[in-house]
Amino acid sequence: MAVRISFSFLSITLLLVSTSALDKKIEPGSFGYSGANGPERWGSLSPRFSVCSNGKSQSPVDIKKGILVQNKNLVSLVRDYKPANATLINNGFNIGIHFGGNVGGFTEGGKNYNLIQIHWHSPSEHLIDGHQAAAELHLVHQANDGSYSVIGVLYEIGNLDPLVAKVQNKLVELAKENCAATEEAHIALGTFDVKYFRRRSRKYFRYVGSLTTPPCTENITWTVLAKVRSISMQQLDLLKAPLQAAYKNNARPVQPLNERKIEAYKEA
Ligand SMILES: *[C@@H]1O[C@H](CO)[C@@H](O)[C@H](O)[C@H]1NC(C)=O
Ligand SMILES: *[C@@H]1O[C@H](CO)[C@@H](O)[C@H](O)[C@H]1NC(C)=O
Repeated sequence: MAVRISFSFLSITLLLVSTSALDKKIEPGSFGYSGANGPERWGSLSPRFSVCSNGKSQSPVDIKKGILVQNKNLVSLVRDYKPANATLINNGFNIGIHFGGNVGGFTEGGKNYNLIQIHWHSPSEHLIDGHQAAAELHLVHQANDGSYSVIGVLYEIGNLDPLVAKVQNKLVELAKENCAATEEAHIALGTFDVKYFRRRSRKYFRYVGSLTTPPCTENITWTVLAKVRSISMQQLDLLKAPLQAAYKNNARPVQPLNERKIEAYKEA
């Protein structure tokens, strides 16, 4: 009994430490995408952000197909998500959906990664062979030990995206809630089903990087799906509308790969 208690104590502590690494304590306005608080300056804006400048394994990166490493140990990523209570959020620097309760996720290397939130960047943060897509969705997963695994999905302008289609009306509402410089705006979505992503990925890129926003925490497993999806121009505008002008373009520039390798998985 005593052992169990201290174990859960430990995991709660780990969870608290690591979720604060994500975006909980980062106030809107504490960093930006251009000028004096732009990406080149993030590391000096706060001691908590120093790894943004001095980290050696930062994200995003340019995925150059010519230097990919095939890894036979990688497996098809089977995601199993279930409906859960969700909230649409404008945290000041991006628009996202946060989940309450167990929404599911995927298992890799014997570890369960549960989806905690998704959010959009525009244009895309990851590049493929130097090409920047119109948008990128990040599905942020976390394991019980606190480690993060983020799936990135790239979008080009084209047909309607069924996921954004489900929250379009709420995005209009969110844009009306003027997000004050120091506050998040929330809109309840009720039970939300991310079934759209409940499928396997036949091809993806894998590397170890960081959060793409301050505090730029490292040792995050990145999976960028090779399949590029489509989003309509109008939907992209709806995703940008609630953000203040300085955050409408919220893609961090690509970071040096340094010693890292990008692995590729392709279903046989
Ligand atoms: C669902 O989330 C909303 C906030 O978006 C919250 O007010 C509500 O209490 C939650 N409902 C349940 C059943 O957890
Ligand atoms: C990095 O994360 C992996 C699991 O995701 C973990 O096993 C390892 O200890 C972490 N390394 C550091 C330096 O935090």
